[in-house]
Amino acid sequence: MTTHHETTRLAATPPLGWNSWNAFSCEVTESDIRAAADALVDTGLREAGYEYIVVDDCWMAAETDSEGRLQPSAEFPNGMAALADYVHDRGLKFGLYTSAGTETCQGYPASLGREQLHAEQFAEWGVDYLKYDNCGDHRGRDAIDRYTAMGEALESVDRKIVYSICEWGQNRPWEWGRNVGGHCWRATDDLVAKWRADPDEFGLGVADVLDRMAAIDAAAHGPGGWNDPDMLQIGTGPNSGQSEHEPVDVQRPLTKAERRTHLAFWCLLAAPLMIGADLTSLSTFDRELLTNERLLAIDQDPLGIQGTPDQRGDDAEVWSKRLADGGAAVAFHNRGDAGREISTHVSAVDMAAGADRYRVCDCWTGTEWETGGSLAMTVEPRDTAIVRVTPK
Ligand code: GAL
Repeated sequence: MTTHHETTRLAATPPLGWNSWNAFSCEVTESDIRAAADALVDTGLREAGYEYIVVDDCWMAAETDSEGRLQPSAEFPNGMAALADYVHDRGLKFGLYTSAGTETCQGYPASLGREQLHAEQFAEWGVDYLKYDNCGDHRGRDAIDRYTAMGEALESVDRKIVYSICEWGQNRPWEWGRNVGGHCWRATDDLVAKWRADPDEFGLGVADVLDRMAAIDAAAHGPGGWNDPDMLQIGTGPNSGQSEHEPVDVQRPLTKAERRTHLAFWCLLAAPLMIGADLTSLSTFDRELLTNERLLAIDQDPLGIQGTPDQRGDDAEVWSKRLADGGAAVAFHNRGDAGREISTHVSAVDMAAGADRYRVCDCWTGTEWETGGSLAMTVEPRDTAIVRVTPK
């Protein structure tokens, strides 16, 4: 379909920003959102490229108005247009959440059957990004039908709104998300701040999501439409910050090695990077990780390729993706219990090999060296080394 989304190249690279859900869950308030917008600027995250401030579930009042319009809850006393202005005044973009059912996941009024009315409200308020969840009664309508209805409503309004489909990967949204006007579509269940989740507990860990992403079709993934492996759990979970608003179902925070792996792979996958942490209590480690410009350049590479595994199956994994400059990003991931060397060759990764010499840059340290083609990195357990390889 031809849309104004495509002609203006909305989400030409994966959207970067912050989302309220992991830090504030259903307790979110207007002042939390203002503080997040201020913190995005103060921490240097805006400067690094993060631009969306998205209010997730629970911003709406329990009742719509008599026409079926969504109304902000008492926790948002100045209303959504004023909050959007506050965010815009800081050079940022503003996002909201609703669901493609009768209710949101937390039981608030949602948008099924009222897509046009709500899209018009969002446009009036100055919304730039809509996360559209999959909770509530679907009234017998299938996912493509429900997500098409909101896609068409968003296209009809006089505002460019990034359309973030959150259907949890249940109906293979990577096959239809782009066609219904989506700019990204969640490919998995919710990610929580764990390495692995038990099958009987809520959510998926980082390693669980990576296993799924390795198998997900990336044919539609690229400029304007992205497979979404969910928010970044860097700085979320108990003890990761001083927030008193930790959601009840988030367990221990990831270790530093796991956090490096998390960011390295989300960038290699060219995933939307939506920070889940409370930005007002971000640790120095997490801030430096999230603002690593070498990693962000891999995420934001204009080709928009989703990295894929070249070597998996034992504890040493190599994944790679081509970059616009003719080089590649190569990730070396250790799933074992002991540190080890992991090696590959430029001819075995996703790039047009054929040069005599290559420049290699370690994306964590910035250290550079040259190679004729061999690549080898020492990697600690659950950690990931990631390099950028460029033909000379
Ligand atoms: C889930 C969604 C989460 C969050 C939550 C809010 O369905 O996957 O990302 O939005 O609902 O209730």
